[in-house]
Amino acid sequence: MKLIDLYTKMKKDISYIEKELERSIDTDHALLREASVHLLKAGGKRIRPIFVLLGAKFGTYDMERIKHVAVPLELIHMASLVHDDVIDDALTRRGQLTVRSKWDNRVAMYTGDYIFAKALAVATKLENPKIHQILSKAIVEMSIGEMEQIRFFFNPDQTVREYLLRIRRKTALLIAISCQLGAIAAGADEKLSNRLYSFGYNVGMTFQIRDDLLDLIGTEKELGKPPGSDIRQGNITLPVIFALREPELRVPLLSELKRIQEADGQTDIQYFIHMIRNSRGIKQAEQMANRYIDKAIMQLKDLPDIQAKKDLIGVAHFIGNRSY
Ligand code: IPE
Ligand code: IPE
Ligand code: MG
Ligand code: MG
Repeated sequence: MKLIDLYTKMKKDISYIEKELERSIDTDHALLREASVHLLKAGGKRIRPIFVLLGAKFGTYDMERIKHVAVPLELIHMASLVHDDVIDDALTRRGQLTVRSKWDNRVAMYTGDYIFAKALAVATKLENPKIHQILSKAIVEMSIGEMEQIRFFFNPDQTVREYLLRIRRKTALLIAISCQLGAIAAGADEKLSNRLYSFGYNVGMTFQIRDDLLDLIGTEKELGKPPGSDIRQGNITLPVIFALREPELRVPLLSELKRIQEADGQTDIQYFIHMIRNSRGIKQAEQMANRYIDKAIMQLKDLPDIQAKKDLIGVAHFIGNRSY
């Protein structure tokens, strides 16, 4: 399945969410509006709202309820990106200037805060406290994940386990709860929403592993930002952790890492990228990503055989192979 086919099929609902997203960030304050609209209009895959909508198909699909979780999930994601680009000193995102480069870091920090607050404001339309607990817990975990990432910058001795725990927090949990909250908002039973959570968690792990792979093997055109951003900032990702285990690569990689760190990322990273691309790390990371996709799809086994189940499987495969 191509993601575009799903967009076509869900066009009406996705456009509706898009309108609601625009509405949710509207404000009289010109700068806050411009900065948040800038990011919203830059696009993005809207994968989290899509998961909410598909999750909701397993219950009573009432758009007027579901939108109150679909919109917050995209907003939380967006807010975290605005902040993430400050941490990364990123110039571009989604093929456009980042908020921090179009304005500055301070504007980006407040824009992120503003979008987070708007996410919560929309969610309050739903009275179920469980939804609020799940949302706030995910934001807490995300913050921990991003902090852990900083703690492990340029640490060549981190383990695969430490990496997996980190991406679970910073990425996978938000995707997990997108699937889960869609089902909860649609009144589906707990067993079902828990299954969807596990599905989303496993897909989310693949999502970040692929994101990290793409940063090493993708092109600027595909990524909407220059590749190699992770290593410039010191973020050692799965293919690199694997490559560091190869005896003939470890020493040259360590010396490159040291050089990149000493230059604060402002140096040529071609040789480093070249070594990683030619290491077994790429294949090993791909294999791990594929294992998570298989696990994700297994979670759906006992779920009712509705079209949304096929669509979820389709999105899972898209994410397993994604190049953007
Ligand atoms: C990027 O997320 C950040 C990660 C969690 C890897 P997306 O790839 O979903 O970003 P957009 O929304 O499509 O731009
Ligand atoms: C995703 O991680 C950021 C968050 C989960 C907040 P990345 O740092 O890999 O995202 P990109 O690559 O900048 O989009
Ligand atoms: Mg980043
Ligand atoms: Mg990335």
